[in-house]
Parts: sequence; structure tokens; C-alpha cells
Amino acid sequence: MEFRQFQSMALARFDAAMNSPSVLPQAHAQRLIAAMKYSLLNGGKRIRPLLVYASAQACQANLHHADVAALAIEMVHAYSLVHDDLPAMDDDDLRRGQPTCHIAFDEACAILAGDALQTEAFSLLSRPIDGLLPAQQLSMLQTLAFASGAYGMAGGQSLDLEAVNQTVDLAYLETMHNHKTGALIKAAVIMGAQCQASLDSQTKAALESYADAIGLAFQVQDDILDVTSDTQTLGKTQGADAALNKPTYVSLLGLDGAQLKAKQLHESALDALSSLGEHAQALKQIANYIIDRVN
Ligand code: IPE
Ligand code: IPE
Ligand code: MG
Ligand code: MG
Ligand code: MG
Repeated sequence: MEFRQFQSMALARFDAAMNSPSVLPQAHAQRLIAAMKYSLLNGGKRIRPLLVYASAQACQANLHHADVAALAIEMVHAYSLVHDDLPAMDDDDLRRGQPTCHIAFDEACAILAGDALQTEAFSLLSRPIDGLLPAQQLSMLQTLAFASGAYGMAGGQSLDLEAVNQTVDLAYLETMHNHKTGALIKAAVIMGAQCQASLDSQTKAALESYADAIGLAFQVQDDILDVTSDTQTLGKTQGADAALNKPTYVSLLGLDGAQLKAKQLHESALDALSSLGEHAQALKQIANYIIDRVN
């Protein structure tokens, strides 16, 4: 299957799950729900949902079981972006080509929208899912919770903020990137695999090393695009990292060094998949996309 075919199949599944009437019903707190919908429905590459489906496919699981995991992880991601853009963090006014949540609404509303997107993600994932064992769902919940909190994305965001205007070494930068971005990317791959009740340990180990490599590659490419792309293509303000004096792979290694690092990580990701055979084709295609992408 071509990547485009996989992408449209997976995005159609994801959109159907996201637009289900049981997701974010506008029952009350209309302004809050509007801000949550604004941040969740407003485009984006949907790379984490794509990874959930591709990993479920690699493990020959039923993709129907991956729908809620795909939705939950994208909700946590959307929350992370809303908070990342706040004045207290990166102070950005453009996201996915539109005003950021705190500009379109206000700061208090953006804080609450992020909080509530996060808790809604866990609420959705804890409802019974037809065909999934409670133990599988519990594993997914643990994976997502660990990847979101102090030992994952939130911890990485804290390392990012501590590093502003500081000189950090490559080990610090790698830890920061692995946490702020790699953790949720890895969780997407693992949650897809958790749709398969009888996963062998060799496949799990291969998927973990693939996920580690693409998780870091994804943020290295984000650092590269902040320098090489333009605001319109990115849908977010180009040059934001340099303007805030953030350490990045480009600031530490130069553009060529960062591009070489992305290439090496891409190769490691493909190596990790070599034992998985044809079912892992979409995972390979996503690894290619991550370093070829323009936004
Ligand atoms: C942006 O994530 C923030 C990072 C973790 C680098 P994406 O590049 O996945 O953003 P969207 O969802 O496509 O807008
Ligand atoms: C964001 O990193 C990571 C998270 C949102 C968790 P960045 O701050 O580099 O992301 P962008 O460039 O604003 O999308
Ligand atoms: Mg940031
Ligand atoms: Mg940012
Ligand atoms: Mg960035």
C-alpha cells in the first residue's frame, strides 16, 4: 500500500472517531468546549494517530481497537500544544495556520482547554472498548499517563524552559527532546501494539527501538524546519526557537550536523523494523515522512 493510501484510510478512521457525538458534546461550559474543539479539530498532521494505526497494523491487530487510543493521544498532544503556546511558555500566536488558542479565546480559557483535553483523553480511554480486554486498556492508560507526565512530555517541557538562555550539552538536549516529544511518539507506537493481546517480546522490543529513533528524529526535524522553512508552510512562526534563545539540534550541531543526526536516526528506525516484515510497511513510510516533511 502507498503511504497516501494508508494515510487516507487512517485519517478517515480517526476523523470518524473524533467526530463521534460522544466526543466533546457541547452540553455545558460552551466556551471551554469550543476552545477544546478549536484546538483539536484544527488540522495538524495527525502523526500520533497515524502511528497508533500503523503499529496496530504491524502487530496484525484489529484497527477498530485502535480508534480510541488514536483519539486519546491526539487529545493529549493538542493539550500540549495549547499550553506550549501560552505566554508563560513559548508565547506563540500562530498554530496550524490559525491564531493560537489563547489568542482566539483567552489565556484562562486556553489553560482550561488544555487541562480538559487531557482529562477527556483519559476519560475516553477508560470507557469499555468492545473487543479489548480490560487489561489491554489498562496498559494503554498506563502508557499514555507515563508518557504525558513528569517522566514524559511535561518533564521534557520543564527541561526545555529551564534551558532558555542557558548553555546545555548534547546529552541534556537529547534527554529534553526524548521527553518533550519522543515520549508521546513512543506511546503512540506502544499503544498501537497494545491493541494486540498476544504480542511477542521480540516485536515489542523492535517497536520500542523504532519509536525511540523516530521520536527523537521528529523533534530534530522540528528544530531544522524552524530554521529552514517559512511561517506560511509551517503554520507556526518560523524562527521562534532562535528568537527565544532555545537550545536545539541546529544551535548545538549546526544545520548540517542536525540533518546528519536526523538521517542517522532514520536509518536506526528502519533497521529496528527489519525483523517485522511486510506488515510494518506503514511504520517505514512514517519514518520516511518524518524526515522528509516540510511542516
Ligand atoms: C509539534 O507537533 C510539536 C512537537 C512536538 C514538535 P506536530 O508537528 O506533530 O504538530 P501538528 O499536530 O502537526 O500541528
Ligand atoms: C513542543 O516543542 C513540544 C510539545 C508541545 C510537547 P516545540 O515548542 O518545539 O513545538 P512547536 O515548534 O512550538 O510546535
Ligand atoms: Mg516549546
Ligand atoms: Mg513551541
Ligand atoms: Mg519547535
